Amino acid sequence: MNPNDSKNPEGGPPVAEYASKSQEVVLRSHEYDGIQEYDQLMPNWWLAIFFGSILFFVGYWVFYYNFGLFESDQEAIGKQIQVIEKAKAAALEEMLGKLNDDALVGTWATDPAAVAAGKQTFLGNCIACHGENLSARIDAGGGQFVPLPGLPLNDGEWKYGAKPMDIFRLINNGTPADSAGHNGAKMAAWGQILPPMQIAQLTAYLIHENPKDFAKGE
Ligand code: HEC
Repeated sequence: MNPNDSKNPEGGPPVAEYASKSQEVVLRSHEYDGIQEYDQLMPNWWLAIFFGSILFFVGYWVFYYNFGLFESDQEAIGKQIQVIEKAKAAALEEMLGKLNDDALVGTWATDPAAVAAGKQTFLGNCIACHGENLSARIDAGGGQFVPLPGLPLNDGEWKYGAKPMDIFRLINNGTPADSAGHNGAKMAAWGQILPPMQIAQLTAYLIHENPKDFAKGE
């Protein structure tokens, strides 16, 4: 230690004795580039906050992470997701209670509002893979057609079942887990994204666009 540091050269209090009176200034003897250093304790309010927050952390850590007394953000979000999943499952349950092949063909697909809503949802979510005209390909001009990833929805073929409820379930659940998909491409479960009402409207739209496939009473 620099011996000059132990005493205040200006004859004031020794350096180790911190300022005791309010407003008293005690400087250490050294000076670098004109910069001097206080030799004072931090004020009590500052120390109280400093040590207080250390104590608070210990308590927080023990109660929060070791005793698990409080709910973590992850648990809170998990609970909320469960509530949402339950509500979704209940809505699907309710919709399935109302839906059947006859209702989809006879009621939903003949309701212009339901068909128009289904078309709207289709244009917003489905045309990237199935095409605006349901053919699953884009006319590139000059007789060239670029295939899209999805299956055509106007070719009279329904790979996972041709009943209206099969179509509803396929849109809702996506490609079945045990299927390899179409050229390796599987369709997502739209029930994760769209409410059952919209899936029913989509089904109504597809039925409406394929009247021969879904003649009433078949
Ligand atoms: C990211 C691309 C993609 C989007 C977007 C998409 N699909 Fe598909 N869809 C596919 C693929 C791929 C298949 C074929 C799945 C298979 O063979 O397992 C398919 C199959 C289908 C089938 C069965 C067709 C058949 O001939 O059996 C229906 C119905 C269908 N999609 C409806 C929809 C609807 C409705 C939407 C919009 C909500 C939609 N798809 C959006 C990729 C997509």
